[in-house]
Parts: sequence; C-alpha cells; structure tokens
Amino acid sequence: MPQTVIVLDFGSQYTQVIARRIREANVYSKVIPFDTPINEIQADNPVGIILSGGPSSVLIENSPKPDPQVFELEIPVMGICYGLQLMGFMLGGAVENSVHREYGYGTLSKCSDSKLLEGLPNSFRVWNSHGDRLTKLPYGFQGIAKTDNSEFAVLENPEKKFYGLQYHPEVAHSDFGKEVIHNFLFKICGCLGDWSMHDFMNDSITKIRQSVGEKRVLLGLSGGVDSSVAAALIHKAIGDKLTCVFVDNGLLRKNERQDVEDLFAGNFAMDLRVVDAKDYFLDRLSGITDPEQKRKIIGVSFVEIFDQEVEKIGEVDFLAQGTLYPDVIESVPIAGNPASLIKSHHNVGGLPEKMKLRLLEPLRELFKDEVRSLGVELGLPKEVLWRQPFPGPGLGVRVMGDIRHEYLEVLRGADFILQEEMYASNLYYKVWQSFAVFLPVRTVGVMGDERTYDHVIALRIVESSDAMTADWAQVPYEVLRKVSSRIINEVKGVNRVVLDISSKPPSTIEWE
Ligand code: XMP
Repeated sequence: MPQTVIVLDFGSQYTQVIARRIREANVYSKVIPFDTPINEIQADNPVGIILSGGPSSVLIENSPKPDPQVFELEIPVMGICYGLQLMGFMLGGAVENSVHREYGYGTLSKCSDSKLLEGLPNSFRVWNSHGDRLTKLPYGFQGIAKTDNSEFAVLENPEKKFYGLQYHPEVAHSDFGKEVIHNFLFKICGCLGDWSMHDFMNDSITKIRQSVGEKRVLLGLSGGVDSSVAAALIHKAIGDKLTCVFVDNGLLRKNERQDVEDLFAGNFAMDLRVVDAKDYFLDRLSGITDPEQKRKIIGVSFVEIFDQEVEKIGEVDFLAQGTLYPDVIESVPIAGNPASLIKSHHNVGGLPEKMKLRLLEPLRELFKDEVRSLGVELGLPKEVLWRQPFPGPGLGVRVMGDIRHEYLEVLRGADFILQEEMYASNLYYKVWQSFAVFLPVRTVGVMGDERTYDHVIALRIVESSDAMTADWAQVPYEVLRKVSSRIINEVKGVNRVVLDISSKPPSTIEWE
C-alpha cells in the first residue's frame, strides 16, 4: 500500500486541485468529507492531513469542523484558507471577520525560516480568497510569512508539525505553490513518492469490481478521450459485463465509426453495439436551422436511441460515464451568469434518473491530463488520447443552417483533407482544434473552361488552453495553400475556401 495523505474536504472549489497536486508529486491522496470519524481516518494510516478551504466561516455557529482528534494523531496537519482558520480557532487562537476581504493577488513576505517555505524566495506572489483572518496565534505557533492584509498568512507549530496557509498554494495563480506542497509532503510528512497512475488504475479496478459485482454496466462511447479511457478501464475491471453503445447519428466525421469499431470491438474485444441511427437523427433535423434547436433535437434523439438500445440489451444496472472533475465543476449552474447559457452543452445528464440506473464515474476525480496518463497505462493509442475536442452535436453544428446529407458529405471530405494536412505538417497536436465548416451559400467560380456555382468551406483552426478563450492559429501559408487547393480539387461541390480569423471572445470556436 502506498503512503496516504488525507484531504479533509470543507467544500472549497479547489479541494480536488489540492488532491491533484499531491498526485502530481507521486503521493497517494484521498479526499474525504470533513466530518469523517477519526477511526476511519486512522484506518488509512495517513502520513499527513490537509484541511481544505471552504465557503463557511468558523465564526458561524455549526460551521463545518473536523473531529478534534485530527490534531492528536501525531502526524503533520496543514490547513489551507478556511483550514488555517479552523486550525487557529480550534487550537485556541482568535479569528475575526476582516474589514478588508482579501481577494485576488497579494505579495507574501517570509518573516522567518521554516521547512514549509524552504528554498523559496523571500517574497512572491500568492492568490487569496478569504474574508476572515487569524488575529491571535494559538499556543506553540509562530507566523512565518505575512501579506499586507494578514499578519499570519503562513504559520507553523514545528514541534507538532502543524502548518497553516491563508492563501491558496494549490491554484496556478500562486507562485511556488507546487514547491510549498512538495515541502509539506516530502520535508514534513516524510513522503516517499511511492504512488503512480499505475496504482490509480489498479485501485480503480478493485473499486469498480467491488461496486459492480455480478451486475451489468452500460457505457455510451463517443470515441472521445474521456469515454474511451472510461471504457478501457471498466473493461479491464469487469470484461464482458460492460457493454458499450456507440451511436452513429449521421453527424460523424469520415471513418469515425470504423475507427471506433476497429479499436474497441477489434483490438480491445469489447462488447460494442453500434447503433445506426443516421436516418433517425437526420429526419428530425430536416428543415431545422436554429443552432439551439438543433442541439436540443440531437440531445433528445441521443437519449431516445440510447433508451431503445438499453431495452434491447435487457438487464442493465449501471450507467458508466467518463465524467471528469472539471465537468463536475462546470456543470454547477452559476446563478445569474449568462455565460452558462451561451450554448447548451450536450451530455447524457438526464439519463440515469429516467432509467433508474446507478452511475459509475471512475474518472470523476481526475483532470484531463491525468486521464491521458491513465489512458497510456491502459494501452490506448495516441490518436485517441490526444485527439482534438469534438462537440457532442458533431457536424450538426458545423453545417450552417439546414443539415442535408449532401452537405454533410461535402463537409466530411473537406474536413478529412484538413486533418490529413494538419498531421502531415505536424500541426495537428499543436493546435487546440482544426476543422472545416460548411457554408450553404454558393459563389461563382471557374474550373477549366466552365463557370461553377458551388458552396464555400471555412477553415477554423484555433489555439487555446481551455476553450474559454481562443485565438486563430497562424498556420503557415504553404499549409493553407495545400489544404485549399486539395479541397477545391478533390471535394465535389466546393469552389471556394475561406479562413476564419476571429478570436474567442467575441466569436466562439464553433460556428453554431
Ligand atoms: P465554443 O464554440 O463554445 O466551444 O467556443 C468551446 C469548446 O467546446 C466544444 N463544444 C462542445 N462540446 N458539446 C460538446 O461536448 C457541445 O455541444 C459543444 N459545443 C462546443 C467546442 O468544440 C470547443 O472545443
């Protein structure tokens, strides 16, 4: 068993980021509820405990508190933000509601040497988000760093190995956050770094086997990174008790269905049911031009087809999904935030209640790059793990306006050429997304001696790190020239190719 660091969760939106930072350091971490009984914590034999941040205030009655015995286990404890205030409050210090809420960047200045900040500069930038602050240290503690607003921004009781940080070292905005967490793990808890993604895989396999038992699991496979990794992991755990359903909605790219069949039914020998629902989707979409309406129809049709397939398969108990941690946060609706309504993202969220299925989400704690590492462990190819994002509604939102068979065919041909040239020029994995968009307008051209009157293909190639913002990629002219000339020469029905040079915002990545 690898060494364990326990993260007690007090509800911060960054709790999983703390866990991820610990995993990054090759240390096993377990996030558990703040009120987990002490005997359960002890059962894991942890080498350290981290108290996460949280939205509450220790000054409020009934605010979340851990079992006080967490401070009596004779192991290091580190409190972050609310966790620091808890530590101060529970061990006899004083916490007050600060007049100035400290939110955003601040400068941390060291005031004495300590193991926690060892090897770091005397002052550096940190990121804060707190209202309360510690005004009196508990017995045995000393302040080791401060910010303009908090005299005790970082504190320690070296004898007991208790540490507190008012700011958030786990977020990327805080400088040297990784180093601080490293110091806590390796210099204070004595971690060995004895955990890896391979252990995560084995651990998940055991957990999946335990929760599934002899029951059956269904997974909607899209061929994207998340559902592919979930499928490979669950298959490794329970073999034929997993059935994957891949819906061909007629909005897929060229060869996509075949590639999924070859890999999962072929290579991995999974029970893969490919449902041909092209007509079902395209008939319903016929004449529909409004983007939101298209998305809704595609989403609803997907649920219906999936439903029908479950009926056919018979007894199923679990629905597996490749939900990642960022999906969990992003799907929390933010009241009054119109951004959350810009596009209704398509997922199978409504399915489980309707079908009375239990959810199996083995990737729920992971971030995208961790999922890719897990995929490598599971033997998935680079083409799947590093595939560019592809929207749930597929080519349905890349044919502008009315979706027709012949438009889709043209778009598939053009898109395939673009991808081939992106691979050939080693640009495919360097950009965030590269795809073609079909424009249902016709323009005049000339081919040979003949006048043509054909459609337009737009190229959308963007760079981004998280899809929240994006910029058009500066692809070399030679590559663009080749793509354009190949599309016009090889794809019947296109006589013009244009390049989209808009950034997000104010544009979006997809055109609909
Ligand atoms: P936009 O167009 O909003 O896209 O800038 C941001 C990212 O999300 C992808 N996208 C979707 N993904 N279902 C998905 O699973 C959808 O409905 C959807 N709409 C957009 C898009 O490809 C880009 O990566």
